[in-house]
Amino acid sequence: MVRVGIITVSDRSSRGEREDLSGPEIRRWAERMGHAVEAESIVPDEMMHIQAELIAFASRGIDLILTTGGTGFAPRDLTPEATLAVIDRAAPGFAEEMRRRSLAITPHAMLSRAVAGIRGSSLIVNLPGSPKAVRENLEVIEQAIPHAVELLRGRVADCGTQNG
Ligand code: MTE
Repeated sequence: MVRVGIITVSDRSSRGEREDLSGPEIRRWAERMGHAVEAESIVPDEMMHIQAELIAFASRGIDLILTTGGTGFAPRDLTPEATLAVIDRAAPGFAEEMRRRSLAITPHAMLSRAVAGIRGSSLIVNLPGSPKAVRENLEVIEQAIPHAVELLRGRVADCGTQNG
């Protein structure tokens, strides 16, 4: 069972001025996948808030921390910087493939600065902010998640014997 944490990064949603539609979109995806959503929160676009939440989720042993929002070019879009500040190791393949596949859908995909990386045994992946982008990007990465989590847990002796 993959334990999932969801962090919506949005000034307006954190103030209750805009309904968070993307966090629930991730929750529905996780439930469809058979994953367990163990933590959900909404934070403003502030480096310190984002970093603190990522650290807290990772210390709770969440396998997969998905953020949504704050990956673009607006002055307060800082989710990638907050993520890079807390990861031990980069996992560039996720963002590379999300952008590559998203570019076939919209040229605006190149405006997402999303990153992914590993803190302890948690995988952190940034997703863009709109529910549509969340859906499209999760579809790209969903197949790689279970194997990634198994590897992070140190349970895979030999990758070459696995196809999934
Ligand atoms: N990726 C996909 N697959 N679908 C989308 O609709 N929107 C793009 C991009 N990535 C989009 C996408 C847009 S318009 C922006 S501005 C960036 O993600 C950053 O979004 P964010 O600032 O909400 O994180």
